[in-house]
Amino acid sequence: MHRRLFLFEIAAILQKNIVIAIYIFTNCRISDIIYRNKCLKGKLITKEGAKTMELKITKTTNPKQKPDQTKLGFGNYYTDHMFVMNYDDGEGWHDARIVPYAPFELDPSSMVLHYAQECFEGLKAYRTVDGKIQLFRPDKNMARMNASCERLCIPKFDGDFVIKAIKELVKVDQDWIPTEKDTSLYIRPFVFAVDHHVGVHPAKHLIFCVILSPVGAYYAKGLAPVKIYVEQKYVRAVIGGTGYTKAGANYAISLKGQEEAAEQGYEQTLWLDGVERKYVEEVGAMNVMFVLGDEVVTPELRGSILGGITRMSIVELLKAKGYKVSERLLSIDEIVDAFKKGELKEAFGTGTAAVISPIGELKYGDLVMPINDGKIGPISQMLYDTLTGIQWGRIPDEFGWTQVVE
Ligand SMILES: Cc1ncc(COP(=O)(O)O)c(C=O)c1O
Repeated sequence: MHRRLFLFEIAAILQKNIVIAIYIFTNCRISDIIYRNKCLKGKLITKEGAKTMELKITKTTNPKQKPDQTKLGFGNYYTDHMFVMNYDDGEGWHDARIVPYAPFELDPSSMVLHYAQECFEGLKAYRTVDGKIQLFRPDKNMARMNASCERLCIPKFDGDFVIKAIKELVKVDQDWIPTEKDTSLYIRPFVFAVDHHVGVHPAKHLIFCVILSPVGAYYAKGLAPVKIYVEQKYVRAVIGGTGYTKAGANYAISLKGQEEAAEQGYEQTLWLDGVERKYVEEVGAMNVMFVLGDEVVTPELRGSILGGITRMSIVELLKAKGYKVSERLLSIDEIVDAFKKGELKEAFGTGTAAVISPIGELKYGDLVMPINDGKIGPISQMLYDTLTGIQWGRIPDEFGWTQVVE
């Protein structure tokens, strides 16, 4: 009886290994196997660790002076506390803690400083008109950050646990949430590699951190349309690269194009696809949408575009309101054609910081295309009012997008 059981067990183990081997050799190259094992390992440890992981809170004894709410701008001030957890190979994510905001001490050989193994997120906490604090779709930010981590071979983390930690952090620093109209508390989660090793490989030691920054109204003087330069020399991303992630490196490589557009008097660049320089992708660090006749078009997500939470929400909102909305390939030639036929009605960027950024003028080569007489259009205005209304609790959230911090 025992012998039969023993043989059965050996057969089962062999069968399992064969199944794993078949899976591996039909689905992956060797480099993929190493990569997937690493990411999977991180995920499992994280999940396990998160169940038992406690969040320790140490409050500052030396609170900072809060800035003038009317002069906040964006990314200029940071609150009294931050969330930190560490990853070490073999231990997974551990030591989750809220501690006084302070600089990190980094060894000069820390990998992130050399090979940019880093990614981040951006979301906001809003003080609603009835005094509550709420977040907008934080689960989507966590899912996107884990997708960024996977692409960058950074161990995944438990998104639900980090949302809980963010809510705790926001509660600890709730007096920092500005109350002036359209102000908010920007939340910046980020993760980076700290192995002391100048060598290119996935890190074994990382730091995950969340900092908070009170930010002013994006449009202090009303929604001002921007002038956009269609970039033909530089590219932001290619399919197969990291365009769909929030890797810090994506932003470093976009600076040169932005700088040259600014030299010509344009506020942002409209990025075209990296292979044919034909299809529209993003505008600055935002997704982009065009109203062509009665159709709202936004470039489809093919791997080189960041899937914005604002973009996703706008597509859902437009569909719910019965608009014709398409996520599809959109060439710059189609936009020029629509402009010439008088069908280019509106264009706008979408993102957490601005929500909607209307485009008043596009420059492509020698062609200058004014849009809606350089004014914000009705669809852009409706989207801005609806989304900001939901975020600041001015109108009911029929979609279940907001989460109250209690
Ligand atoms: C490159 C890029 N595209 C699009 C977006 C818009 O994304 P979201 O709507 O999630 O803020 C952002 C901003 O975070 C971005 O950095």
